[in-house]
Amino acid sequence: EVMRDISDIDNLEVKLNQTLPVKKVKVVPGDADQDEDVKQLLGQAAAHEMNQLVQDDSIVTVTGGSTMAAVASQLHPIDRIRPLFVPARGGLGDMHEYQASSICVQMAKQMNGSYRLLYVPDTVGKEVYAKMMEEPAVKDVISLIEKANMVIHGIGDALKMANRRKASAEQMDILKENSAVGEAFGYYFDQNGKTIHQLNSIGMTKEHLTDDKNVITVAGGTSKCKAISAFFKWGRSDVLIIDEAIARYLLTQQ
Ligand code: F6P
Repeated sequence: EVMRDISDIDNLEVKLNQTLPVKKVKVVPGDADQDEDVKQLLGQAAAHEMNQLVQDDSIVTVTGGSTMAAVASQLHPIDRIRPLFVPARGGLGDMHEYQASSICVQMAKQMNGSYRLLYVPDTVGKEVYAKMMEEPAVKDVISLIEKANMVIHGIGDALKMANRRKASAEQMDILKENSAVGEAFGYYFDQNGKTIHQLNSIGMTKEHLTDDKNVITVAGGTSKCKAISAFFKWGRSDVLIIDEAIARYLLTQQ
């Protein structure tokens, strides 16, 4: 039984590797929505991929969320490798333990690396935003984000993320009317990969998702199926780490 399950997962990986626009797909068994342990498995797989790609002078941009928290908890120091971690975005209205900056500090600790943070309030108006972008300390971190060799990030279901961030009724309506399905890096997008709404926060933008960066995408759970298939139309990734629930869904989409 166990042997059959393993080869089944291998099969999913092989098929998805042939069809998805990524260099590598890793699949862990189960459904993260049904079983908390699956998130740890995703974390383990992601930590493993990261270990293979990270170098001593690597700058790693990280996003927030519970999946990234699981990745952070699975990281360990590697000999002579001390990466620098930077958060992808300033405050997006996430809970403290799920904020990119908290994950960033935890990842740096786990790998004996270092970190730089973006000190920005969760919600800033347009004027304050423009002013903050001129701050040398903010500019410094943005230039690190631009230079980053690696990006490790989560993806969420659009409405679930908007709820988690206590979006206004007006914002919820915009997302619903435009059929937003996914969220990544503070962008909400529809199933065709069109941006519906972008949160006004400081840090990484879609334009920073360039080919020179190794992008590791980690997500699991049936509730994220649509978000992940839309993500490939919205952005790009090099290494995709998903659970079986999403893997099976993506295969039905081909
Ligand atoms: O809020 C940061 C973030 O990475 C979002 O971009 C993403 O949608 C979400 O976290 C995923 O959260 P979780 O891993 O808890 O599902």
